[in-house]
Amino acid sequence: MSAGRPPKGAKWLNLGAGNRVLGSGWINHDATKHRSEIDLAFDLNRVPWPLKANDWDHLSAISVFEHLRLTFIETLDECWRVLKPNKTLFVKFPIITSPFIRHDPTHRWFWTPHVVDFVDPTTVYGKRYTYYTQRKWKIVKRTRSDRNFWASMETIK
Ligand SMILES: C[S@@+](CC[C@H](N)C(=O)[O-])C[C@H]1O[C@@H](n2cnc3c(N)ncnc32)[C@H](O)[C@@H]1O
Repeated sequence: MSAGRPPKGAKWLNLGAGNRVLGSGWINHDATKHRSEIDLAFDLNRVPWPLKANDWDHLSAISVFEHLRLTFIETLDECWRVLKPNKTLFVKFPIITSPFIRHDPTHRWFWTPHVVDFVDPTTVYGKRYTYYTQRKWKIVKRTRSDRNFWASMETIK
């Protein structure tokens, strides 16, 4: 899946870039500045993140959130806070049925694709568990394979 490139003036942030740093206007984040292309370093487990509210146009989190101590809802709440209204988060994580999910000793969470439903008020779970968070999202696109799940989701503000 191509990461695309930010339109002029748009602030796009690649959370937990690792060695997959993105060029052409992306801001790359990781826990440490382990290579020169990492622009921002901070611990995602410490909230609030050192980022302004309503300041970002797009966040990408590829194989990152399953490594955090934060719950999925806590992580999404923080993404929601820093994104502008109606802007997007692209998230990828390995699904619980993947034969490889327990290979990585730093994985803390094992989700199904339904985990995103709880923050979208149009879904069955989103309607039933409205009180999980006040920070709501529209799931714009879902894709899955036998190993991974990808979602594009937009803040509702
Ligand atoms: C499996 S790697 C994925 C790297 C890259 N996104 C990719 O797709 O190849 C997980 C990334 O999340 C970062 N990460 C894990 N826990 C973190 C934390 N608490 N704060 C910031 N980054 C964290 C790691 O440093 C690492 O870069």
